[in-house]
Amino acid sequence: MITLNTKKLTEINPSHGLSNEELASNNHLIEDYLEKIHQREQGFYKIIDDQDPIEKIEKFAQEVEGKYQDIVVLGIGGSSLGTICLQQSLTHLYKKPNLHVLDNIDPIMIKEIQDVIDLEKTLFIVVSKSGNTPEILSQYSYFREIAKNFVFITGPKTGILREIAEKEGIPTFDIPVNVGGRFSVLTPVGLLPAALIGMDIKKLIEGAQSMRDQFLDKNAEKNLPFQVANVQFQLSQKGKIMNVLIPYAQKLIRLADWYRQLLAESIGKRLNNQNEEIFSGITPINALGVTDQHSQSQLYNEGPNDKLLMFLHVDDFGADIEIPDTPEVEYLKNVTFKKLIHTEMQGTIQSLTQNHRPNFTIKTDKVCEFTLGELFMLFEGATAFLGEFLNINAFDQPGVELSKNLTKEML
Ligand code: PA5
Repeated sequence: MITLNTKKLTEINPSHGLSNEELASNNHLIEDYLEKIHQREQGFYKIIDDQDPIEKIEKFAQEVEGKYQDIVVLGIGGSSLGTICLQQSLTHLYKKPNLHVLDNIDPIMIKEIQDVIDLEKTLFIVVSKSGNTPEILSQYSYFREIAKNFVFITGPKTGILREIAEKEGIPTFDIPVNVGGRFSVLTPVGLLPAALIGMDIKKLIEGAQSMRDQFLDKNAEKNLPFQVANVQFQLSQKGKIMNVLIPYAQKLIRLADWYRQLLAESIGKRLNNQNEEIFSGITPINALGVTDQHSQSQLYNEGPNDKLLMFLHVDDFGADIEIPDTPEVEYLKNVTFKKLIHTEMQGTIQSLTQNHRPNFTIKTDKVCEFTLGELFMLFEGATAFLGEFLNINAFDQPGVELSKNLTKEML
């Protein structure tokens, strides 16, 4: 269960925060924005009701169970970041399943992966929505020469991967046309690797559905994605042009990487809906509590006041450990690691608040499939609303396409 606490925004100098009146001032826009989002005909909040891909994925996972020692995902951007996040969040921190994500084309990566896998016993999952991305086609071209176990996840109609799949009869899962790469973690893109390493993908979907119901709620006070976007938007108008996402949980470190792409690619746009140049954007920064208290928090406390800090609190870490009594360290008497991390987070929030640095806290009870599904949908929904607040199309990426095309021309 996810909750949002925006109280600290009301406690700081109003030029940097938001009063209760300001927080509520855009609530009347929600119906119009939901209508505009529906008109964009995006699938990210609808596909989670489609049972067919879930059944197909579970059937495939059962069929290949025990057959492969390693799984290698060839994917980049929206085709890899969700999987990396799922693996970090929902598996043991040190005993990782043999799932490797090759989200770069550094040749040393291509070479060294072969030192830890047996090609005969490895399943390669080739993920590309367009089916034309040079990074993925180059990796695939390389591995098809030396390996034979492939499954594709790609767009249903066009693209080179689709063409190859049809010609060579490679098992293929579809990414729906109306789901953009960075919104695709709850399609086979994230769900197939997750199922193959034993995650309960139905619970992920259930979590996402429950947040999706909030996302569609026309009552702004009950709509968490709307509230998050409202704060991001209003504070961007007050010069808070960077958003720092700080999970206080080791397992959620990669959620901040996933979100960095979602916010950056969705909101960084040259043109608005009327084709006027506006150069909109909020720069996402990923951080981790408590680690980055010792690297970034000095800047956040005393540097330029141009950031909104979004804390992510996890109540139950899945473990708690007593810190043994050490007479010389009086302040740790009867303290557990959970209490220490929670208290450090409160200390950081308090220091930022005293320095008039806008911040809010998203709370989750624990890190599990259900809450991950909720968090993905919370941020996807918030990003969709933010696009409407900013009067831009949050679902295209002309800048990325331009660089892809120029690379191909230069080659
Ligand atoms: O969100 C996006 O659309 C992009 O970041 C893509 O995910 C990324 O460029 C990879 O594209 P593709 O999945 O088509 O290979």
